[in-house]
Amino acid sequence: MPDTVFILDFGAQYSQLIARRTRELGVYCEIVPHDTPWRQLSQRRPAALILSGGPASTLVEGAPDMDPEIVESGVPILGICYGMQLAAREIGAELVKLDQAEYGPATLMISNRDTPLFDGVPEESRVWMSHGDSVVTLPLGYQPLASTARCHVAAIGNLDKNVYGVQFHPEVVHSEYGRVVLDNFLHKIARLGRDWKMESFLERTIDEIRARVGTDQAICALSGGVDSAVAATLVARAIGQQLTCIFVDHGLLRAGEAEQVIAAFREVLHLNVVAVDARADFLRSLRGVEDPERKRVIIGHEFIALFEREAAKISGVKYLVQGTLYPDVIESKTPASKAGHKIKSHHNVGGLPEQMGLSLIEPLRALFKDEVRTLGRALGLPEAIVNRQPFPGPGLAVRIIGDVTSDRLEIVRGADAIVREEIDAASLDPRPWQYFAVLTPVKSVGVMGDGRTYANLVAVRAITSEDGMTADWARLPHQLLERISSRIVNEVRGVNRVAYDITTKPPATVEWE
Ligand code: XMP
Repeated sequence: MPDTVFILDFGAQYSQLIARRTRELGVYCEIVPHDTPWRQLSQRRPAALILSGGPASTLVEGAPDMDPEIVESGVPILGICYGMQLAAREIGAELVKLDQAEYGPATLMISNRDTPLFDGVPEESRVWMSHGDSVVTLPLGYQPLASTARCHVAAIGNLDKNVYGVQFHPEVVHSEYGRVVLDNFLHKIARLGRDWKMESFLERTIDEIRARVGTDQAICALSGGVDSAVAATLVARAIGQQLTCIFVDHGLLRAGEAEQVIAAFREVLHLNVVAVDARADFLRSLRGVEDPERKRVIIGHEFIALFEREAAKISGVKYLVQGTLYPDVIESKTPASKAGHKIKSHHNVGGLPEQMGLSLIEPLRALFKDEVRTLGRALGLPEAIVNRQPFPGPGLAVRIIGDVTSDRLEIVRGADAIVREEIDAASLDPRPWQYFAVLTPVKSVGVMGDGRTYANLVAVRAITSEDGMTADWARLPHQLLERISSRIVNEVRGVNRVAYDITTKPPATVEWE
């Protein structure tokens, strides 16, 4: 059993980021609700505890609390932002509301180096702050360790009790030495080993799934994307042929993709795959539909109907495997007040479990995309799948503006293959996050040979992004753009003009639709 750090979650946006950084530093961790009783936690023998940030103020009645026994437990503790304030309040420190909250970058000045918390951190460094309250005085045994211009107590420590707190967010990349601070806490203060690897997560998850599923059956929808591929492979490691993967070929995938997915899963990974050729059904349902939201809804319904039909042929199914990632979990937590601002209905296989009475297995719920890729490699998935770009569930239907027909699918597929081939061959560093072609409804006049043409406009989109939530357009070299444009108009019939999309998200989105 590796050393386990528990992160008490006080509702921070960043709890998973703390978990991720902890994993990156070679330590296994789990996130638990902030009010988990010490009695319960102590049974798991925590090696250290991290108290997350949170949106509340400790000065307000009813603010999220923790079991008071925790601060006295002797287990090394690091409180972050709200977590520091709460720990401070528990030990009897005085807190006040600041006249002006402190958000964003600040300069951290270290005033005390009696503890290893700031080993390797220069006297002054940039940190990321986000708070409205501040600690002003500390009880005996506790020392202020650092400050910023606005916050006099920006870090605290009690060497005897091993209780520490930082007002800034060491887990975000904007805190220059944040990683060093966490590293110091985990390895120098809590003296934990550096022995957790993706392989350990793999083994642990496989054991858990095996124990949960027992002799029952599970199903999974394979989309060709990396998330469902990794989730399915992981679950198959645990329960083998008790998992059936259903691959619905809706005909809206990129060139060669359906064949690649089926071959990889059947022949390389030996998974149990049922492939359904539904290309004609989807084209029929989409005929004449131009509105992107209607396309999404139709594809979603059609997909669910086909999936259910196939699943009904397998007896004893109790579980549905989904490749939900942590960012999907956050997105689905959007408060009801924002629900009115739906931008796009992101469809994968949402809605299936309730409708079919299945329990969910979501082994990737705590992971970020790049961690899923690392996991995929640890599972032996081919690079072509592990490195696949994000691709919308409704596929090329949302990259064809207007009517989806087999001719128009062929155009967008041909152009898209060229965009991918050329950008892959250019070995850009860093590689854009996503790059593809869009078939617009615009036709324009051109001249080819000596003749007039009146043909389609294809748009090329290439973006850099961390997570798809915000994006910048990729500054592709002009020669590369030239090759892409010239190949598309020469090789794809029905295209006589290519445009490059130079809009960021926001205000645009990644997909055109
Ligand atoms: P937008 O267009 O909303 O896209 O800026 C953000 C990212 O999400 C991808 N995307 C989807 N992914 N199911 C998915 O799994 C979907 O329905 C879907 N629609 C868009 C998009 O490709 C981009 O990476």
